[in-house]
Amino acid sequence: MKRALVAAVVLSYLFSLVAGSAQETERNTAIISADQGKLTISKHIYGHFAEHLGHCIYGGIWVGENSPIPNVRGIRKDVVAALRQIQIPNLRWPGGCFADTYHWMDGIGPHDKRPSIVNTNWGGVTEDNRFGTHEFMDLCEQIEAEPYITGNVGSGTVREMEQWVEYLTHDGKSPMADLRRANGREKPWRISYWGLGNEAWGCGGRMRSEYYADVLRRFQTYLYNFGGNRLFKIACGASDDNYAWTEVLMRETAPMIHGLSLHYYTVDWANKGSATNFTEKEWFKVLKKTLFMNELVERHSTVMDKYDPKKRVSLIVDEWGTWYDVEPGTNPGFLFQQNTLRDALVAGINLNIFNNHCERVRMTNIAQTINVLQAVILTKDDQMVLTPTYHVYEMYKVHQDALLLPVDLKSAEYSFEKDRIPALSLSASKDKAGKIHVTLCNLDPQRANTVMIDLRGAKPSRVSGRILTAGAMNAHNTFEKPDLVKPADFSGAQLSGSGFEVRLPAKSIVTLELE
Ligand code: AHR
Repeated sequence: MKRALVAAVVLSYLFSLVAGSAQETERNTAIISADQGKLTISKHIYGHFAEHLGHCIYGGIWVGENSPIPNVRGIRKDVVAALRQIQIPNLRWPGGCFADTYHWMDGIGPHDKRPSIVNTNWGGVTEDNRFGTHEFMDLCEQIEAEPYITGNVGSGTVREMEQWVEYLTHDGKSPMADLRRANGREKPWRISYWGLGNEAWGCGGRMRSEYYADVLRRFQTYLYNFGGNRLFKIACGASDDNYAWTEVLMRETAPMIHGLSLHYYTVDWANKGSATNFTEKEWFKVLKKTLFMNELVERHSTVMDKYDPKKRVSLIVDEWGTWYDVEPGTNPGFLFQQNTLRDALVAGINLNIFNNHCERVRMTNIAQTINVLQAVILTKDDQMVLTPTYHVYEMYKVHQDALLLPVDLKSAEYSFEKDRIPALSLSASKDKAGKIHVTLCNLDPQRANTVMIDLRGAKPSRVSGRILTAGAMNAHNTFEKPDLVKPADFSGAQLSGSGFEVRLPAKSIVTLELE
């Protein structure tokens, strides 16, 4: 009898602990250690990707010098201004799958002398190579982004890739430097980021990891650092949770590379669904799939740690984003999709994950910049629309090259039917001027969430903020209504004793600034 009583007391104590912690979680709490920042959030986490696919390059970026659409040397002025506004740090080009069919010499010299090819991956359309190396480097200079070029390993040669690097970067007299000069560019360019193929396990050659590792070792041998140029060599990494690929690449090539990539799309390949016409079930499914990025980054990093404990090799998530059915009536090979508040949440969550893993994740590239997949900009003739995802990049740019602040978040759950995920996502940083920025997402489309934040090691006297939200889960901007979803001032945060309290409306993204 006594034993039963003791057991009951113990059980009730344990239950109270569980219930207590559940209540605690319900309250949403976070500790931000403002004086414990040690790692820098590389600005390159905020990188982009532009492929010769659909209307990303042609129409989206390049309209040609004779176009009535305002342009500088053929590149759209409105798009350049918009991209400068979000401070794109780097741009990956020319693919994607296109990269392993691209022969760079087709894209230099007078436009009317350039040969055409078939874009076999994307719609079978004619690619006339009007946009090539010089045009891409001009674009990068106009938007002040660093180029990230993906070389052709799948169908190209070692010599061809060596010559491309020589053409771009050789500062003395050499066959390729002379060719560059003949094409109007005297000075060499500077380029660091160099990809050795794309998706070598798939459209980049269907290679096995061991075979690709050997091919990579050979190609990279002939990528020279001419003059003062220093290449940052990026190997094709895994898709999704293929940790075995990461294991082999790290084991066989780690000393020869600076970065290893990872591709992960938020997609259900069997049923991609509509970008705009969806229910809460699909909202939940997409956000849950997005959160999986956290596990992917951690588990690939663990494999990398085994071969590179000092974390010299960066994990480069150079393709990520949502992938839905194309918009009705558009070319299925062009991957054109609308972009709603749901996509903004996907971007906000992913960028918080990348910030919080900046120790290993030092570059990422959303797919893709314009008119393709999770685009930040949509264009139609001379019109341009900034998507909700664009606004997230604008709101998060304060994290670029700032000091990551450690965060301990206890989030309530957002449950749907029998499933549940954390309701909140958060990252924090301190910039060079000492300002603290906190980006928060409330994934729950029905309920507001209040979070109490204990800010340790700082005593700000002012908090201000901006919010991105809308009435409907599928709210989006169109050419007719381009400003339906855009950031607004936010007054839902108040300083309190040891930190601050924020009330996040349902389905919202907030950036706070504390001074
Ligand atoms: O971004 C679209 C395509 O997705 C890329 O070309 C390829 O690398 C990936 O499979």
